[in-house]
Amino acid sequence: MKEVDALESRLACPACAAAAIRLSELDGRCGECGTFFPVIDSLPWLFPEPEVALSEWRGRLHLLLEHLSREAALHRRDLERAHPGELTRQRLRHLASSYEDQGRRVAELLAPIGLGARQERYEVHLALGTRLPLSQGLTTYYSNVHRDWSWGEEENRVSLEAVRNGLGALDPAGALLVLGSGAGRLAYDLHQSSSHTLTVALDFNPLLATIGQRVSTGEAVELYEFPIAPRSIAAHAVLRRLAAPAPARPGLRFVLADALATPFRAGAFDVVLTPWFVDIVPDPLPALMRRLNRLLPKGGRWVVFGSLAWADRPPAECFSLEELLALAPEAGFEPMLQAEHEIPYMRSPASRHARLESAVCACFVKRREVEPAARPATRPDWLERSDVAVPALPEFREQALSTRVYAFIMAMIDGQRSIRDMAALMEQQRLMPAADAEPAIRRFLQRMHEDARRRADF
Ligand SMILES: C[S@@+](CC[C@H](N)C(=O)[O-])C[C@H]1O[C@@H](n2cnc3c(N)ncnc32)[C@H](O)[C@@H]1O
Repeated sequence: MKEVDALESRLACPACAAAAIRLSELDGRCGECGTFFPVIDSLPWLFPEPEVALSEWRGRLHLLLEHLSREAALHRRDLERAHPGELTRQRLRHLASSYEDQGRRVAELLAPIGLGARQERYEVHLALGTRLPLSQGLTTYYSNVHRDWSWGEEENRVSLEAVRNGLGALDPAGALLVLGSGAGRLAYDLHQSSSHTLTVALDFNPLLATIGQRVSTGEAVELYEFPIAPRSIAAHAVLRRLAAPAPARPGLRFVLADALATPFRAGAFDVVLTPWFVDIVPDPLPALMRRLNRLLPKGGRWVVFGSLAWADRPPAECFSLEELLALAPEAGFEPMLQAEHEIPYMRSPASRHARLESAVCACFVKRREVEPAARPATRPDWLERSDVAVPALPEFREQALSTRVYAFIMAMIDGQRSIRDMAALMEQQRLMPAADAEPAIRRFLQRMHEDARRRADF
């Protein structure tokens, strides 16, 4: 079976759930609801609303490029203004030119998704960004790229061994789905070290998926690594050649999609692997497990791999391994095997920062069907849709007032007034007694100053 057919025969429309997607090398369409799925740079965009996803990621690409060019400008400015010593000049020059070069490289790599001319200003994005934090930017897991395809041989080998032991033999006619595959090395290694028909590497980040896709077809991509704790001046920005040991054998497919609204039919995969994934998605684990159940036939396996480091969620949802095992039967799974592995993690040779993680690899077998969980209502309707009235909630009114106060303070900055002058004006406007206003303005200005210098994650 051709690769595209092997994938197509497992697809279901993420918008209407009909098993009616026609997919070619060029594009895809749902025969039922008519949703159009672009295929860009060999990557099918299989989101429920592909155009919305495309526009969001284009916006983040635009922001990332602006950010890189601002970093370059900041370093050049310090070169001129700070009168640094020769070594510091070397570092600033090296970083400035690396940021510029990285911008050119990222723009070229992602040119196929189309940047277009954006109307909005960087400042507008920053302002909105502070209100609506984008927890997943293009570079959120950027260091994975270098670990996967440049210096991470040992880490990749240990991870592969751990997962291979957990999932056992793969049926040669079978299909493996890797959810949240990132830059794709584990999916590639599993595909290469087995003879099964199809491995689908699914992620929603086009930078990571594009790199995985290109590199695994034998192309080399060159991008900079900016290590956390550089060992030397040169190590502040290292141009890395990202390449696979060999082009992948047929049957490895990268797709862009939302793991919480997967574009697949029920029972489409023999094995679903979630590496370093279940603890970073907003879906509570019991709901996620039900969603995974649907993707497998009875007897199919789910393999969870990672350190179970839950963040930003209610305490009752930060599950330990014991709870995970106990929850499994309710989601139709029987726990089969668990093992702990010490894994070196993100040990870049250019950085003094590195981690050692204890990762669990647990394998479950699907024993019965369960009712799938409804799509998580993480956002209310008025946030999800553009045509629903935004309610005038009390918290919005409060924020509107404080935003006006912020704007008032910022407008007082004219290059002449001191904090004391501003506090006096605040008192005149009956906003606050001057004695209270002085420390409050100082704190506010300090925060604004720090915010402006903070590096954003795009
Ligand atoms: C911690 S990283 C792990 C990446 C990879 N599995 C690895 O081990 O290197 C989590 C990955 O999940 C992806 N991800 C997060 N939420 C997702 C979603 N709703 N749909 C698809 N991918 C998602 C991120 O883009 C990221 O690549």
